[in-house]
Amino acid sequence: MVGITEPWFRHAVLYEIYLNSFYDSNGDGVGDLPGIIEKLDYLAGGEDSLGVDAIWITPFYPSPMVDSGYDITDYYSVDSSRGTLDDIKVLVAGCRKRGLKIFIDYIPNHTSDQHPWFQDSRSSRTARYRDWYVWRYPKADGSPPNNWLSVFGGSAWQLDKKTNQYYLHSFLTSQPDLNWENAEVRNEMKKALRFWLDIGVDGFRFDSTDYLAKDPLLRDDPPNKRLDKHKDRNPYHTLSHVHSRDGEKVYERLNDLTSVVAEYSGRFTVAENSPNKPDINQYFKGFYDKIDHAVAAPFNFGPINAPWDATYFSDFVGHFQSSLRGTSVPVYCFSNHDHERIATRYGHEQARTAAMMILTLPGIAVIYNGDELGLADGRIGPRTAKDQFERNEPGIGLGRDPERTPMPWTDGENAGFTTGKPWLPVASGYKTYNVEAQDKDPSSILNLHKRLIRFRKGSTALLTGSYHGLDLHPDVFSYTRRSDNEKLTILLNFSARPVTIGREVSGQRAILSTDINSPLPEVVNDHLTLKPHEGLILR
Ligand code: NOJ
Repeated sequence: MVGITEPWFRHAVLYEIYLNSFYDSNGDGVGDLPGIIEKLDYLAGGEDSLGVDAIWITPFYPSPMVDSGYDITDYYSVDSSRGTLDDIKVLVAGCRKRGLKIFIDYIPNHTSDQHPWFQDSRSSRTARYRDWYVWRYPKADGSPPNNWLSVFGGSAWQLDKKTNQYYLHSFLTSQPDLNWENAEVRNEMKKALRFWLDIGVDGFRFDSTDYLAKDPLLRDDPPNKRLDKHKDRNPYHTLSHVHSRDGEKVYERLNDLTSVVAEYSGRFTVAENSPNKPDINQYFKGFYDKIDHAVAAPFNFGPINAPWDATYFSDFVGHFQSSLRGTSVPVYCFSNHDHERIATRYGHEQARTAAMMILTLPGIAVIYNGDELGLADGRIGPRTAKDQFERNEPGIGLGRDPERTPMPWTDGENAGFTTGKPWLPVASGYKTYNVEAQDKDPSSILNLHKRLIRFRKGSTALLTGSYHGLDLHPDVFSYTRRSDNEKLTILLNFSARPVTIGREVSGQRAILSTDINSPLPEVVNDHLTLKPHEGLILR
């Protein structure tokens, strides 16, 4: 890495490992921690590694795995199907040896209904842990206390016959919400953070943070007037969640948690959010205004819902960048284990252009495992569906199995992911989109990622430089990144046609193209032509 003084997290390449599907070391068909340890050289440390700076591992905690581990029964341990606490320690040491930072998932809003706290809580109205969850009497007619919806379908309330009260679950019925109004809960959740920080993790990905603050009066959510029913069939979106999440205390609660992270030096947190504000930048402003920039930043999920349109991206990034203050860290997120993969959403050619965008925009760059291979979503039939979301709301495209298929390592059986039966079938494209094949192909999207990451590490402009949007052509998202000693121009052709850029590029030279195997285009008579979907870095 080129010599810079800024802390690592301001420009890290953060690689999301969806644990269940990354690498299975013991043939039980599910990814595990020893599997990650085996694959660390793929990620960092070696000449030929991908070269990422940090990994984020999805949950490994003991869990009945109804929601892929986001349903915890013990915050201080590891599920035996995923490994052991010792494996975590070995993993932390392995990361450290390679200069790799490690983030773990932290899920403060809800537990599993199998968690001993909830088991006790539901046992009687006077139980020790009763108030650790949100319990309410039915309305006079027996119906739920209000109209809040569960993200995964149906009411957010479940009647528990034993005590004849409803409990709140913003997600699955088997994921009861913790009661964040209760100080004991807040303290316990801070204790869990310290436990992992003491073990040596470098940071966290905080799950569902906007649910930590709800309306204390439990008022009904109003209908969502902005919903386009033809385009969006998700029942959860029929309401505007102004009371069931993103309440007044959301930043206060986040601050409480991030202040624990701040007790340890050099650690960082990225927070998942889905705020209600009509202008998303309002939410980010609140976050960046109120939460210490040295320990936390919010994911910006704007790209996940963005159309493949240069003008759209130019406006979106420009607007967001101009809302930031000096030290706030942008975290553009283009995909993860909850959303369609980039290659499916935009196409394979476009995935290359997107790779250049992800790795040249300011801040933390997020790569979801498999996207560096250009992997597309798998096809999971209704009978194979594992995601409970798909089972609750079948057939309308809400299930998340397609983007969670196993990481393809080879073109062999089960894509080299497992020697057993994979918990989800491998995606059909694995013969082409696998690590081994792409390593050998000098023009592959994997090698493009490696080149871009290496280039980024040597570029002060990309690591620390300012962002300035350009307006050169409606089909080309273009911007400069500038540090004291380097100025780069990035040109991303969003169209399937060649595009010629004029005088603005004079005096500059192309130094990296998404078409890594062809000669770089020259600036001729002050003009430069981008191939269809080509991305270029000029100096
Ligand atoms: C967000 C996680 O990314 C998702 O996978 C999970 O189902 C919900 N939060 C609930 O924890």
